[in-house]
Amino acid sequence: MSSSKFSTPTTFLLIFVLLFKTCFGANPLFHFCSSSQNFTANTPYDSNLRTLINSLIYKTPSTGFGIGSIGQYQNQKAYGLTLCRGDVSASECKTCVSDATKEILSLCPYNKGAIIWYDNCMFKYLDTDFFGNIDNTNKFSLLNVQNVTDPAMFNYMTKELLSLLAYKAYVSPNMYATGELKIGGESKKLYGLTQCTRDLSSSSCKKCLDDAISELPNCCDGKEGGRVVGGSCNIRYEIYPFVKG
Ligand SMILES: *[C@@H]1O[C@H](CO)[C@@H](O)[C@H](O)[C@H]1NC(C)=O
Ligand SMILES: *[C@@H]1O[C@H](CO)[C@@H](O)[C@H](O)[C@H]1NC(C)=O
Repeated sequence: MSSSKFSTPTTFLLIFVLLFKTCFGANPLFHFCSSSQNFTANTPYDSNLRTLINSLIYKTPSTGFGIGSIGQYQNQKAYGLTLCRGDVSASECKTCVSDATKEILSLCPYNKGAIIWYDNCMFKYLDTDFFGNIDNTNKFSLLNVQNVTDPAMFNYMTKELLSLLAYKAYVSPNMYATGELKIGGESKKLYGLTQCTRDLSSSSCKKCLDDAISELPNCCDGKEGGRVVGGSCNIRYEIYPFVKG
């Protein structure tokens, strides 16, 4: 009978935690656990991965990008990369990377590789060197289900804006660009964003973004908003301003 004494406070706590998470903590957009190999707790890979994560949490916020590897021997070495969206503050970036690393370790506890995305950041790790290569494997899209009234025109404008922003991103050192475009004669606007991980060369960033733009007809044809999100780059458009500043 003594257990019932605790049931009410426990329930309250649970509701509070759920509310707290909903209001203040962002939820991940998506994740993949690599299917290749698992590691065992308390092995060198485990400790290298944890050391890597701590260093990325420390390194990323100042520039919005972190990259590194920890470990001496090839089969024990962990490679990781973090990227915050170009407009997020250092403190938001730190919170996001810290949440992302915790969350992915609980979603993919013993996977030697995984990737997770949030609105504000992404984190990827692997037991092999993936730096500088375009990630064609880990990719997803999101859309706003609302239809636009003139799809042909709207799709054209979306492609125009994102192609311009792709160019702006791959020629800029931080590989990030945002912009807007007036749609028709109305006061309506289209807002866009493009971003690559900064381990890519300018030409790989271009290729990654061009590929993402070419997927828009498959995911987001005539939709008011859409994103194509991958391990090396992402694009997004909306009919409302979604970036800060
Ligand atoms: C890795 O672990 C997961 C979950 O425990 C299991 O389902 C999967 O089969 C394992 N993979 C390998 C390659 O051992
Ligand atoms: C958008 O258009 C598609 C195809 O014409 C239709 O099936 C869908 O229900 C529409 N969505 C909304 C939210 O109106």
